[in-house]
Amino acid sequence: MRFLISAGPTREKIDAVRFISNRSSGKMGYALAEAARDAGGEVVLVSGPTRLTPPDNIAFILVENAAEMAAAIHAHAAESDIIIMAAAVADYRPVKTYAGKMKKANGNLTLELERTEDILLTLGRNKRTGQKLVGFAAETDDVLENAIGKLQRKNLDWIIANDVSCTDRGFGSDHNAVTMISASGACDEVTLSDKKTVARRIIRKILED
Ligand code: PMT
Repeated sequence: MRFLISAGPTREKIDAVRFISNRSSGKMGYALAEAARDAGGEVVLVSGPTRLTPPDNIAFILVENAAEMAAAIHAHAAESDIIIMAAAVADYRPVKTYAGKMKKANGNLTLELERTEDILLTLGRNKRTGQKLVGFAAETDDVLENAIGKLQRKNLDWIIANDVSCTDRGFGSDHNAVTMISASGACDEVTLSDKKTVARRIIRKILED
């Protein structure tokens, strides 16, 4: 089984020293890469900037922003049997970037943002027969309803609904709790556990499917 897994945040440049990002640590995606490798898979891990050491015996691609993440994912998508998007990819990036450090001026500053590519949506449109596509839904409200919306809209096989409204799980934490929902209506809950345990449960479920 060839796995393609994304992890971590992206950084969208404002100027030479500033960027827009989020609190993803990469722990969930790296744990998934290890669990997929340990299940006998060949793994390509595409990661945004994190403090983590890449797992042994996998192919590792480091990217900075959403555009680089999209390019790396699309370059490996066709050859992959299972694609899992655990990365917290920025939905918006600054329209204008500055090569040097922006000087401050009096008054407010308005940053204009534009949409980045929804990588998972593109993957869902181009999904080949037999390929499994797994997305995460990081939600604070109406978690399951929003997750099912993403599953359907993006043509996924599984969505991992991740309630990120509590600080003891999700972004940055060593722990997570998720609900896995499949396109065929299967539903499996993983209660609060360390991310390595959650990752093993996710990989096992996808491989059994
Ligand atoms: O990294 P950790 O600190 O361990 O935290 C783990 C996590 C909370 C980041 C992870 O479990 C998680 O929920 N990842 C998805 C975060 C996210 O951006 O969710 P979303 O609901 O905004 O996006 C939905 C899906 O579309 C995700 O699979 C995402 O990777 C994908 N996406 C989003 C935006 C974009 N431009 N392209 C995408 O492909």
